[in-house]
This record gives sequence, structure tokens and C-alpha cells, in this order.
Amino acid sequence: MTDAFEPEIVAFCCHYCAYTAADMAGSKRISYPPNVKIIRVPCTGKVDAIHIMRAFEKGADGVYVAGCLEGDCHFKTGNIRAAHRVRRVQALLEEIGMEGGRVEMITMSAGMGERFAQTAREFTEKIRALGPSPIRDAIRQSGRRAAG
Ligand code: FES
Repeated sequence: MTDAFEPEIVAFCCHYCAYTAADMAGSKRISYPPNVKIIRVPCTGKVDAIHIMRAFEKGADGVYVAGCLEGDCHFKTGNIRAAHRVRRVQALLEEIGMEGGRVEMITMSAGMGERFAQTAREFTEKIRALGPSPIRDAIRQSGRRAAG
């Protein structure tokens, strides 16, 4: 069962850096796991705790927020605010009995296609090792109960 587990990862990617880095990885044919679903945001400062929690509610096993390098945010402190929120969500997850490591803040520049791909690979493997999100399991089980 665990062998067949393919984690679902949501990556909130800032338009100015991580999203462009993902594009660069694609154009350089640097592969990264298809498990990562990218959501483009204008700045990671726009990603609120509720967006991250909603991703878990919708079945994500792990979520990361990828923003500009420190000092490079186009909205000055968006990435710093995002990092605070990610830490809050980590604490919240732990409070409800989940691993805080299921959510992470990552920074990179637009030119870091290889870093984007490496991050996607490493995060996917980390979540694969943690196993399915308990929220995803609970949703699946309640679906089965409703169907059966
Ligand atoms: Fe990229 Fe703010 S503009 S994190």
C-alpha cells in the first residue's frame, strides 16, 4: 500500500521567481516529479494560512510556498510574511496531530531552474516518506462511507 503511494503536492509559486524557475526547468528539460501541482501567485505574501489549509482539505499531502530570495520580493516583505504564515501553519498542523514538515517555505531566484526541480524532487520524497496526509485519508474514508 505504501509502495503505491504517490503524494499530491501543491506548490504556491511566486510569479517573479519560482514560477519562472519552473518554466526554465521545463525549457531546459530538467525533469521534476509530476506530483507537484503549481499554483501561480503574484507574490507569496498573497498566500494566506487558509489557502494552505484548503489545499490540505482538498487532498494535498504536502504544500510548499516558493518565493523570491530574501531582499528580492517585488512587494518588499511578501516573502517574509509568507514565511511567518508557513511557520504558523506548521504549528497548527502539529496541534492537530500532523507533521509540521508537510508545509515548507522555500526561496529561489527566477534563474534557478535546477533548484526548482531539485526542491520538487526532495519535497516529494520527504512527503512520500511521511505517507498520506491524515486529512486526505479521512476525506477518502468519509467518501467511502457516503458511497457505501
Ligand atoms: Fe516574489 Fe514577493 S514578489 S515573493
